[in-house]
Amino acid sequence: MQKNEDSAPARHDLLVVGSANADLVVGVDRRPGPGETVLGSDLVVHPGGKGANQAVAAARLGARTALLARVGDDAHGRLLRASQQEAGVDTGGVLVGGAPTGVALITVDPSGDNSIVVSPGANARLTPGDIKAAAPLLASARVVSVQLEIPLDTVAETARSLAPGARLVLNPSPPAPLPDEVLAACDPLVVNEHEARFILGEGAGSTPESWARGLTALGPRSVVITLGADGALVSDTRGGDPVRVPSPRVDAVDTTGAGDAFTAALAWRLGLGEDLTEAAGYAVRVGAAAVTKEGAQASFPTAEEVAAL
Ligand code: RIB
Repeated sequence: MQKNEDSAPARHDLLVVGSANADLVVGVDRRPGPGETVLGSDLVVHPGGKGANQAVAAARLGARTALLARVGDDAHGRLLRASQQEAGVDTGGVLVGGAPTGVALITVDPSGDNSIVVSPGANARLTPGDIKAAAPLLASARVVSVQLEIPLDTVAETARSLAPGARLVLNPSPPAPLPDEVLAACDPLVVNEHEARFILGEGAGSTPESWARGLTALGPRSVVITLGADGALVSDTRGGDPVRVPSPRVDAVDTTGAGDAFTAALAWRLGLGEDLTEAAGYAVRVGAAAVTKEGAQASFPTAEEVAAL
C-alpha cells in the first residue's frame, strides 16, 4: 500500500527524509568482541531510526516537522507511526509497504556507549521516485535533513529537489562515499569523528580543526563536527575561523540517538534564522539532555527541559 500527501501542503520548519527502525535493545556489562557471546538484560523494543529520531526530536522541541520515510505493513511500522504522531510529526509522507520495517540491533554498556547493527528493510525501498512523488512535501520545507540509512540515490534526489532557498542538512551516518553534488548541497555536513575520518581517509589529520578544513575543501557550505561530551566544532565558508561550542556536563546513561537529537535541533534553529554557532549552542544542550535518559526517542527533551539544563 502506498500513502502520500495529496492535499495542500502545510508549511514545515523541518522535513526529515530518512530511516525508521524498531530498536531492539539489550543492556550488557561489556559489548562482545569478535566470536564472543555475552549475556544481557531483557529485550526492550523502542521506536528508532536516524530519520524517525530526528523528526521526533524536532517536534518535541516545538518545530513543525514532517517525516518522509518508508516502513513495513507490520507491528514495528505501526509502533513507529504511533510514536511520530504522538510527538506531533506530520506523517503524511510516511509510506507503507515493500518490505518489513527496518530493525536496529543495539547493545548498550554501563558507560552508555552502544554498538548498532541495522537491517534496513523498508528503508532500503525508499526510492528516488518516492522523493519525486513527494514534491509538495519538499516544497513545504525550509530545511530538509537527511542521513544515510536510506539509499544514496534517494539522498541525491532529495538534494536535487529542495525548494528555492531551502537548506540541506546531511548527517552521513553510517558513512559512505558521497557524490560531489550531495557534498556541495550540504549546509551543513554534520559528522562525528568516525564519519569525518571515513570521509577524509588517510590524510585526515588528528584534530577537529584539521577535519573541518579537510571537509570544507570537499565542497559543503558549512561543516559541524560533533565531539561528544566536548560539544561541537563549527566551520562556515561564509566567514570566520572554526569555532568550538562547548557542551554542558551531564552524567551519560545512554548515548543512543543523541546525535540525531543534536542534528534535528541544529537544523530547526538554522531554519529559524540563527547562525551556525548559535544553532550549535542550542543543539549541544539538546544532545546533552538526550544522553541522560535511556533509549533514543524516549530520551529527547522538550524546549522547557533544554532551558532548565
Ligand atoms: O542514531 C541512533 C539510531 O541508529 C537508532 O535509533 C537505530 O535505529 C539506528 O538507526
